[in-house]
Amino acid sequence: MKILMVTSEAVPFAKTGGLADMVSSLSISLARLDHDVKIVIPRYYSIDRSSLELLPGALGVPIGGSEQWSAVYTASLPGAAKKHPVEVYFIDHEMYFGKDGIYGIPGEPDFLDNPRRFTFFCRAAFQLCRKINWYPDVIHAHDWSSAIAPVYLKYAERVSGSLGGFEDTVSVLTIHNLGYQGIYNKDNFNYTGLGWDVFYNAGFEDWNMLNFLKAGMYSADKLNTVSPNYAEETMTQAHGFRLDGVLRYRYADYSGILNGIDTNVWNPKKDKLIPKKYSAADMTGKALAKEALQKRFDLPVDPAIPVFGMVTRLTEQKGVGELFGPGYGCIWPVCRDMNLQLVLIGTGEAWCEHEINNLSSRLPNFRALIGYSEELSHLIEAGSDFFLMPSRYEPCGLNQMYSLAYGTLPIVRRTGGLIDTVENYNEQTGSGTGFMFDELNPTAIYNTVGWAVWAWYNQRDHIEAMRLRAMKQDFSWEKSAKKYVELYEEAIQGKK
Ligand code: ADP
Ligand code: GLC
Repeated sequence: MKILMVTSEAVPFAKTGGLADMVSSLSISLARLDHDVKIVIPRYYSIDRSSLELLPGALGVPIGGSEQWSAVYTASLPGAAKKHPVEVYFIDHEMYFGKDGIYGIPGEPDFLDNPRRFTFFCRAAFQLCRKINWYPDVIHAHDWSSAIAPVYLKYAERVSGSLGGFEDTVSVLTIHNLGYQGIYNKDNFNYTGLGWDVFYNAGFEDWNMLNFLKAGMYSADKLNTVSPNYAEETMTQAHGFRLDGVLRYRYADYSGILNGIDTNVWNPKKDKLIPKKYSAADMTGKALAKEALQKRFDLPVDPAIPVFGMVTRLTEQKGVGELFGPGYGCIWPVCRDMNLQLVLIGTGEAWCEHEINNLSSRLPNFRALIGYSEELSHLIEAGSDFFLMPSRYEPCGLNQMYSLAYGTLPIVRRTGGLIDTVENYNEQTGSGTGFMFDELNPTAIYNTVGWAVWAWYNQRDHIEAMRLRAMKQDFSWEKSAKKYVELYEEAIQGKK
């Protein structure tokens, strides 16, 4: 099968969160199953052109009633097997992508021209296929930023009178985060070059605004999200971000497929970013990672004190209000009352970064680095004993799976994909792989961290057994990649 991933993020080229990991590792796994997979992504300013190859000739993209031109670069996706390469194509347009930031910068978190940037990008994806004379069986779009690709397929590319080539192509839209829908002033619709009848028929219209994700949800042949439990949740008013009705309407075409993890990258047996590799059979590497982590964050080096880690975007989704909200959050009492150490790396909302710096300067056992570091994120996963992830909602979540693979027990809220991946501790039997709570409030987080600290000091045999159980879990992509293939096949059958 020929599959084109249309995406705004893909590791190692551009990443703000799990979407980037997911797209690249799914592509690698599909290629390994002998599918012909290509990725198309914008060439953001941060992606160095000198490491890419320029395709000869420019790409003409019909847009807003005229045509605009861009260059196209290529590279092969690192991590893909030589026998099963994945080619990545970069759409290079100075005006749209020649600036820092994927979606925005600190002073402008959502670039004003984002509706245009991603409309242009999605339209360019079709022209790219024509240029390289490669027509996919499946266009797989991800989140709001590529949600207009299924709309173009249905209303412009697959209809008679179009330039042709996509008559048999189907589309799949994966929702990684319903909280971001791409809602803009409807004037931006003129730019799509689609007729205003499509604005209404495709479901762009949203309280007189333009909603990219919603139109993609109506137009894609198949829809899915990244865990079975989140798929169920999103069809309810409580978790549907106002689009639960659309999902219920598309019930027959909507499902949840659990993300996997890249076991070449997130694997203590292979990890080159930690001091010493380790496995369930020999955990000395984990002890060394803990020591290195404590040193790195200038904390007392002591194996007896439990270390709690966090690697996160600092946004409401991740429960940061309940953790760090001034006068409200639980981190102050947690660190004051409990004999533990807490380390964090993250970036995000300005108030939160500020508050974290403030707290870490006043609490001797809380250390934080505001920033982004692949290397430190590996050290935190390996060197911590527990991983704190009290998400408000979580479509899948990769960090709790990374934690499990590294024998680091996650402390999570019972929501979304966290339910599908973590099993709660039972202090009678010692079973489970992590610690779970229901309501999102500072007291619940405080109590659950306290529960883990209690188990650490009083039930160490349980903790050790849970670690080994966690490390045995299989979150490799193989199973899930096959489910995507089934979904693609269903979409193709459905169209026939
Ligand atoms: P989300 O995509 O909602 O942020 P996930 O758990 O699915 O949540 O994925 C987050 C990904 O981003 C993980 O790979 C995590 O390691 C990475 N990440 C987030 N913040 C940072 C950071 N500050 N430094 C390094 N990696 C980070
Ligand atoms: C989103 C979600 C996260 C998921 C990731 C990859 O960013 O917030 O839960 O793991 O996408 O699918």
